[in-house]
Amino acid sequence: MKRRNKIKILVIHGPNLNLLGKREPHIYGVATLSNINTALKKLAEKEKIYLKIIQSNYEGKIIEAIHNAAKDKFHGIIINPAAYTHTSIAIRDALSSVNLPTIEVHLSNIYCREEFRRYSLISAVAIGQICGFGPNSYLLGLKAILDLLRKNKE
Ligand code: DQA
Repeated sequence: MKRRNKIKILVIHGPNLNLLGKREPHIYGVATLSNINTALKKLAEKEKIYLKIIQSNYEGKIIEAIHNAAKDKFHGIIINPAAYTHTSIAIRDALSSVNLPTIEVHLSNIYCREEFRRYSLISAVAIGQICGFGPNSYLLGLKAILDLLRKNKE
């Protein structure tokens, strides 16, 4: 399939996710970000889609990546906003401004952790949220968005 006909998905990893593998492994597991990205790329190849993956520790960079996804005609976004989930009206506004189908993912189950993690500012502008499945949350998120985009095309 020619690249211009492919479904294009942007995966965004938020702050501190570059430390996965070393960071609180009892909560986030031992898989590194590179392990997660490899699994995502393998699934993308199988599904014959184009996947772009970015990680940033900066709110503004994440916002610009969301704006660029719309400019570059991406079809959807998978985002783990990490701690910005609970604080960032700006990322939420960026997502609702571009209005691309978005799936929010988290490695941990944010509802059985500290009180401040139980509220997501992002969920209201996402199609859905997947949390608690470790690295598999991302793969489930990618499958969910592809399913949705392909159904919408029928
Ligand atoms: C996280 C959950 C957030 O509360 C936390 O700040 C993270 C990671 C997760 O993937 O489980 O950095 O988004």
